[in-house]
Amino acid sequence: MRSSSVISSESYPAYNKKKVFKLLRLRFAFLIIVAIFFAQDSDAQRLSFDKGWSFHLGDVPFPVITGHGMSYANAKAGRAWGAAAPEFDDSDWRVLNLPHDWAVDQPFDSTANLSQGYKQRGIGWYRRSFKIDNADHGKYLELQFDGISTFCTIWVNGTLVHRNWCGYTSSYIDITPFAKYGEEINTIAVRVDAIAQEGWWYEGAGMYRHAWLVKRSPVHIVTDGVYAQPVKSNGLWGVPVEVTIENSGKKESSIEVESTLIDPKGKEIVQSRVNAQAASLDKTVASLSLPIANPQLWTLDKPTLYKVRTILKQSGAGIDTLITSCGFRTIRFTADSGFYLNDKRVKLKGTCNHQDHAGIGVAVPNSIWDFRLKKLKEMGVNAYRCSHNPPAAEFLEACDRIGILVMDENRNFNTSPEYMRQMEWMVRRDRNHPSIILWSVFNEEPMAGSENGYEMVRRMNAVVKKLDTTRYVTAAASGGLFAPVNVSQAVDIVGFNYQVENYDRFHKENPTMKMISSEDESALDTRGEYTSDLKKHFLADYDSQTSDWGTTHRVGWKAIAERPFIAGCFVWTGFDYRGEPQPFNWPTASSSFGIMDMCGFPKTAFYIHQAQWVDDRPILHLVPHWTWPVDSIGKKIKIMAMTNADKVKLILNGKEIGEQVVDKYEMNTWEIPYTPGRLEAISYKNGKEVAHFVTETAGKPVKLQLIPDRQTIKGEGWDAVPVTVRVLDAKGLPVENANLPVTFEVQGPGVIIGLGNGNANSHEPDKGNQRSLYNGLAQVILQSAEGGEGKLMLIAKSEGLVNDTVSITVLRAPQIPFVPIQKQLQTLNNWRLSPFFSSRPDPNQKVTDFDQNSWAPVKPGTLQQFVGGSFAIYRTTFRPFKAQSINGGTVILKDVTGSAEVYLDEKLVKVKTSKTKADIEVKFVPGNTEHQLNILIKSSPDSKAGLAGTVIID
Ligand code: GAL
Repeated sequence: MRSSSVISSESYPAYNKKKVFKLLRLRFAFLIIVAIFFAQDSDAQRLSFDKGWSFHLGDVPFPVITGHGMSYANAKAGRAWGAAAPEFDDSDWRVLNLPHDWAVDQPFDSTANLSQGYKQRGIGWYRRSFKIDNADHGKYLELQFDGISTFCTIWVNGTLVHRNWCGYTSSYIDITPFAKYGEEINTIAVRVDAIAQEGWWYEGAGMYRHAWLVKRSPVHIVTDGVYAQPVKSNGLWGVPVEVTIENSGKKESSIEVESTLIDPKGKEIVQSRVNAQAASLDKTVASLSLPIANPQLWTLDKPTLYKVRTILKQSGAGIDTLITSCGFRTIRFTADSGFYLNDKRVKLKGTCNHQDHAGIGVAVPNSIWDFRLKKLKEMGVNAYRCSHNPPAAEFLEACDRIGILVMDENRNFNTSPEYMRQMEWMVRRDRNHPSIILWSVFNEEPMAGSENGYEMVRRMNAVVKKLDTTRYVTAAASGGLFAPVNVSQAVDIVGFNYQVENYDRFHKENPTMKMISSEDESALDTRGEYTSDLKKHFLADYDSQTSDWGTTHRVGWKAIAERPFIAGCFVWTGFDYRGEPQPFNWPTASSSFGIMDMCGFPKTAFYIHQAQWVDDRPILHLVPHWTWPVDSIGKKIKIMAMTNADKVKLILNGKEIGEQVVDKYEMNTWEIPYTPGRLEAISYKNGKEVAHFVTETAGKPVKLQLIPDRQTIKGEGWDAVPVTVRVLDAKGLPVENANLPVTFEVQGPGVIIGLGNGNANSHEPDKGNQRSLYNGLAQVILQSAEGGEGKLMLIAKSEGLVNDTVSITVLRAPQIPFVPIQKQLQTLNNWRLSPFFSSRPDPNQKVTDFDQNSWAPVKPGTLQQFVGGSFAIYRTTFRPFKAQSINGGTVILKDVTGSAEVYLDEKLVKVKTSKTKADIEVKFVPGNTEHQLNILIKSSPDSKAGLAGTVIID
């Protein structure tokens, strides 16, 4: 084996079995998730709204409101202007699927903000048309946007229905009152202002998380409305279930609420029922309890999940069902010995992370969360801080499944009602996750050492506790903790960002306060560069540089490990992220704080932490690689060995260089003159060899190699898999210092959604089919095509090298239920209807444009009773869509009832003599002018007539 650790299996016999078990467990977990996803609600429907959005980069300015008529109309529901209007022509916008981050598509730009990774963000618009079945009439309909960066304004059918001024919280919008059914088309318009910033890191731009349309019975469980978090009290386990029910129907309703606890094998363990009254247009909360003896615990090694199925029943029939998962575990923080999970002491070994990944920005497919979390777990991580915002829901599901503890963090430090609502949303959405142990209310706020800060945190803590008393509230403070009044007095756990020198003083002065390092280290490394070169923006990958406020990885961990009263750490950061290119600026576009680069390729720090944190298997790794230019021969090279054994021996070309007792914090180093060949290390525990590592000098690059993270993916169009690209020499050794361009080709049911190589200084595009290897590595992210099945082939080519092809099996998977895409049609919906005349009026008569009283607004589709007259005029104006402006078009009036004269721009163009229902078609010539349509309908007095069907333009 080359450049990898060889495990002596005799000393760790459980290792392979464990691996197999782990695989089976992951597969099982996957099946459960698929089952939960599709079984979400039997009666309610949750449809993906990811597909088929029309997108426009840049603002579409609203027309300037002038004159009384326009001002009057502007103030009315359903009458939004510009791109927010249902009748806006978006036919030349790009059509795409969510999740979508438009910032990642942009070129690097030295004039853009470095904190946002030198990507221009700006403003964008999204629009989507859809129909709602007549059968859904009467149901409760909710639109859900999981995350839109950054400020968004949302219109449904021309009415402004929602604003969200936070890019990390979801929007749930009851669209029932605005919905149209049957053949009528509904339109959603979303304006996204990503000029606004909430952070000092890359935040992406656009609708970067999933979107959903939820259809429920009028009496239903509200979104995030089941709180079922197991608790252990007096030695007895139970799941108190709190169900929030809402009735959007017209009548009060008597219902029965039933909750069932289901074990991991699908067996129903216990059931409980309670009656409730749901008053019309009101909410009510039902409480139940599910006791259980000896549940299987949720642990880090075996994160067992149970399910709670909650059903609402009306007259015995199920009307709404929600399945949530939960895990049985206890958590406890102490002031002297840190954190306990299930009464076992666990030192928290965590990392802070932002949410972007190479190639895809913040539009992260669910499976990439799993990929990232597994990389962290492989390093020995058991905790994750969502810095500095609530994460995607699917991320937390992955933490529950994989067994990683989470500090969930609120974005904005503000106790005004809107910001409190956002924090409450976070707790409500996330409080069933067994992975979450801490709610963090802020990060590094200047008011931390003041009474203002204290008062704010006191309120935030109280609001969190109203929703969840089972977890601890913390705040990540960068200072102020020794002030007479400060936030430490209002939290449950005092979060220290950096300030290692203050740990002991604070503990001494406040021995009863519980402490955690909410953020530390901020060391700086460039993957695969072993000499710092500040001109080239390289930081040697030996864990030797830090930010002014941080420490090296080794010093940081030692400070935590040696202090039992500190519950653990959250290293800044697990992965590099875009933005914050400290200590550099242009052309460096991403950070160097990561233990891994943006692709998840390990830096030296990965092996340092692995050696420090992993204790269930031997770890041994050497840096650097052993492939140096000829002129390096004889020059001294620093070698660093990372191992969790007691002793380590270094051997070069068969000759022992030396054996050292392992320094478990600092690791072990040698400086030896470079001689090409074979560099080896052997590590020993209790005198017995436990691991062997070999790296060899590679020759010239000869053949590309593609290594997919998984061999199979699901063909539902969501599953994504990273593929590592590297290059081998003639003997098959990886060339770890190769920097050469590679192009890619895909065949079969899938696409490339992003590329990266972890080089913070690279300005190669994230999209497309080309990427250079950076210090031997690049990454291509493939995603399955919807409905895909068969072989997905990735072919890598580089001039002068042997190609490589990898084949990934795309497995047939059930289609994710989605809202069908509806082509936009120009529909003429906004008409005015004249009073009924007893004698023939002038159909083109002038009417004051804001007079809604004598000429009432009317929507075609229903017949009008011609009260006291036999003539009426329908009037509208329209400007043709682009295609019809160029080619001319036809107005199609369906089901016109009564005899009719049609006037286009005051000219009679069509006459219908029969009174019976019939369609009328009116052609108009090319041109981008506004047209007026007047339809004079003649009927018998007091009969029913008019525009009984839709009016569309073809
Ligand atoms: C911290 C801050 C992080 C990041 C980090 C870089 O002060 O909380 O968001 O900026 O510094 O070292």
